Amino acid sequence: MSYPFWDVPIGYGVLMAVIAVFHVFVSHFAIGGGLYLVVSEQLARKAGDSPRLEFLEKLSRFFVLVTLVAGALTGVGIWFIIGLIAPTATEALIHNYVWGWATEWTFFVVEIAAAMIYFYGWKTMTPRAHMAVGWVYFVFAWLSLFIINGIITFMLTPGQWLATGDFWDGFFNPTFWASLVLRTGVCVMLAGLYALLVASRYQAGEFKERTVRYTAGWGVVGLAVTALCQYWYWKAIPAAVVAKALQTMPTPIHSIEYSVWLAAGIGALLVVFGVLAPRRLSMAAAALLMVLGLAWFGAFEWFRESIRKPYVITGYIYGNGVELAKTASYKKDGYLAQVVYRTGDDGADLFRHACRSCHTLDGYKALKPVFDGTDRAFIAAIIRSAHLLKGNMPPFLGTAAEADKIADYLSQRLDKRPLAEIYKLEGVELGRKAYELRCGKCHVIGAASDKSKSFAGQSADDLNNMLNMAADLGAGMPAYTGAATERGALVSFLAQLGKGAKK
Ligand code: HEC
Ligand code: HEC
Repeated sequence: MSYPFWDVPIGYGVLMAVIAVFHVFVSHFAIGGGLYLVVSEQLARKAGDSPRLEFLEKLSRFFVLVTLVAGALTGVGIWFIIGLIAPTATEALIHNYVWGWATEWTFFVVEIAAAMIYFYGWKTMTPRAHMAVGWVYFVFAWLSLFIINGIITFMLTPGQWLATGDFWDGFFNPTFWASLVLRTGVCVMLAGLYALLVASRYQAGEFKERTVRYTAGWGVVGLAVTALCQYWYWKAIPAAVVAKALQTMPTPIHSIEYSVWLAAGIGALLVVFGVLAPRRLSMAAAALLMVLGLAWFGAFEWFRESIRKPYVITGYIYGNGVELAKTASYKKDGYLAQVVYRTGDDGADLFRHACRSCHTLDGYKALKPVFDGTDRAFIAAIIRSAHLLKGNMPPFLGTAAEADKIADYLSQRLDKRPLAEIYKLEGVELGRKAYELRCGKCHVIGAASDKSKSFAGQSADDLNNMLNMAADLGAGMPAYTGAATERGALVSFLAQLGKGAKK
């Protein structure tokens, strides 16, 4: 917490995703493109295929100019943004991997130089020298992936590093190889998708047919490698992390589901156009393939980022920048004692440092709608019990007085009207809403910590008594502080829930 907090109106997660997904897309393109160009050039030269060589020269303009420029810009953009939103984690990555980064930057310089020579050398260099430079471009691009892959995978699965602090333990961590082969597959697939887009603009004819066929092959091979590795990657994540995600974390699980559907869509289109109707590949279909590819990659990265919750570096730093090693001193002295840059408004500062890195008030992962119509005592209890809530959040390590200050800060910004009025609901429907806000944060119906069975066969009086004793039902469960109308509605809803559970 020795860094100031950066206030932005939108969520940190969204901001990061926009830049990072674009960057990974472009940078994987550049690597796969290098391989596609040099392998295809070699084949085309051997076959004396000059239309193919012309096509490749055209293609190299995009790969070299666009991907390198956009890749370099967004790459710097990522450093800029992670330094602002996760300074503690960025510091840890730099300290532990300074030689890794230095090596990667050196490889990147070689990659750029080789790519430019390759692009400008089509007409002036001997074929042999040109292809040699092409290989240098691809190999160094791939080597920079090799290095970055070690550091990115370390964040999710630091493995032995947590105990040894050894560079190589962190680098060759449990998900390193699965992720490396997966990303290599992605590079090949994306290179194929882009080359298809360029090929789709050609007149339907013999050249288009064989080029689309050949290039779709790249897409299919890349996709197959990727799909197999996604399973391998999933298996390489420690079982405890996966189990927790399946129980309480909707986001990563949905991301996996989307990615499977997207991969099926990409595969189907590649087969249709690559095998059955290569001459009919239109620009629209090729563009759709690109969009699906981008969406697939986005879903995978979203999975990787979200399954890491509540950490930014698993087992080492929480998503809000709190280092696990400092847990004891937080618990003893509270958050504010650790916050160096303070604004004078303690509630706001506490909210920023404990919650704001993942939540906004009313935008991304908004807290306003999940607290509107509740009360300050309830909010404070929820904050103290953050570790019990669905979503796998970091524990609240501040003092009880600090939880009250955040609750004050939040409750001043909420809709204070009764629930019935805010949502225009009554009866069981009002009860359902009350459940969602006051119980569903911990007891998700049909999933984590479902309590429906406990309500079976209970009379309204029993249920009312249960609510009276709410704070005693479990360590960390809030007292019931809702108003009378809402309570009556909640009791009817619980009774209904109990009946459903009995069947
Ligand atoms: C490391 C990220 C992170 C931090 C820090 C964090 N949360 Fe969360 N929180 C989540 C995620 C993820 C969920 C699950 C919601 C989802 O996936 O849509 C969640 C869910 C919640 C929910 C339940 C939402 C609902 O649907 O009822 C509440 C309430 C909440 N957080 C409050 C807080 C408060 C208050 C703080 C600060 C004390 C905080 N969170 C800090 C990530 C975080
Ligand atoms: C902050 C998290 C949290 C919230 C919110 C919460 N509970 Fe609980 N609840 C717990 C914990 C923890 C336990 C004890 C451990 C267990 O039984 O899972 C518990 C236990 C219970 C039990 C007893 C367990 C049993 O098997 O009989 C019932 C019933 C229950 N809760 C109902 C509710 C209802 C109704 C609400 C909403 C008014 C609610 N809880 C809100 C955390 C919570």
